[in-house]
Amino acid sequence: MRHLLSAEGLDLAAATAVLDTADSLKQALLGREVRKLPTLRGRTVVTMFYENSTRTRVSFEVAGKWMSADVVNVSASGSSVGKGESLRDTALTLSAVGADCVIVRHPASGAAHRLAGWLDGTGTCVVNAGDGTHEHPTQALLDAATLRDRLGELAGRRVAIVGDVLHSRVARSNVHLLTTLGAEVVLVAPPTLLPVGVDTWPVTVSHHLDAELPSLDAVMLLRVQAERMHGGFFPSAKEYSLAYGLNQARLRLLPEHAVVLHPGPMLRGMEIASAVADSPRAAITDQVRNGVHVRMAVLYHLLAGEEAVA
Ligand code: CP
Repeated sequence: MRHLLSAEGLDLAAATAVLDTADSLKQALLGREVRKLPTLRGRTVVTMFYENSTRTRVSFEVAGKWMSADVVNVSASGSSVGKGESLRDTALTLSAVGADCVIVRHPASGAAHRLAGWLDGTGTCVVNAGDGTHEHPTQALLDAATLRDRLGELAGRRVAIVGDVLHSRVARSNVHLLTTLGAEVVLVAPPTLLPVGVDTWPVTVSHHLDAELPSLDAVMLLRVQAERMHGGFFPSAKEYSLAYGLNQARLRLLPEHAVVLHPGPMLRGMEIASAVADSPRAAITDQVRNGVHVRMAVLYHLLAGEEAVA
């Protein structure tokens, strides 16, 4: 067992193993009054977040606690990072105090890989909880778990990822994982929100959401990441909403069985209408619930299982 740094590093067998474990854990906990398994008793998991998070940080904490690990949360603002301590020294300190696993979110793409390199040989594993615009592998795993719940196997399914692909680590991880699982991915975005080199990705690209909707099995809306757009936002919020926002009229263009996903946090009224977000077609709350089981599965494979995750 080593680290989980990217969805790109997961082959079909490893990804399926994590998803199957997550499903088994979900079934094992179903209807239980006390959601506690002894699996990681005596293990210490540290979450180290240099960027804001609600879903990922809390669900990793819940996942660790439901598996009886000791979970310690470190935020950049309340730690010696605020005094200028480097990422490397912070990581080595956490390893020295006994962390078996460090869950890291960082604004720099590649930070989790650097951390894993520094911690090599210490026995501390690293999970990437989102690094810059690079990857967010556990988000892609929980998205796949949610799609499997609703659609069954994903091979041959057509999934659109819509919106701010340029700044989205969720999009990059989903492109890797969904294609590994055999799904077809179409990116739907204005040209200004697509990365250079997207033509080399294993996807098709469209600028016209309405034309894609009737042939989809799932539509995944992305958050528009204004905080990463230092040069301003183009198209404007109004133009974006008109062309790419999923409203009730567009929902009617989707096949009956098609699923609506959003990684959160949502910008209601811009990326998605409230009536759509709160409709039974949307699996957004299921995504959050599955996030706990998927993160339990990742911790299990890294700290208690026999197969390497990535
Ligand atoms: N989807 C996601 O990563 O949400 P948080 O930023 O709240 O963790």
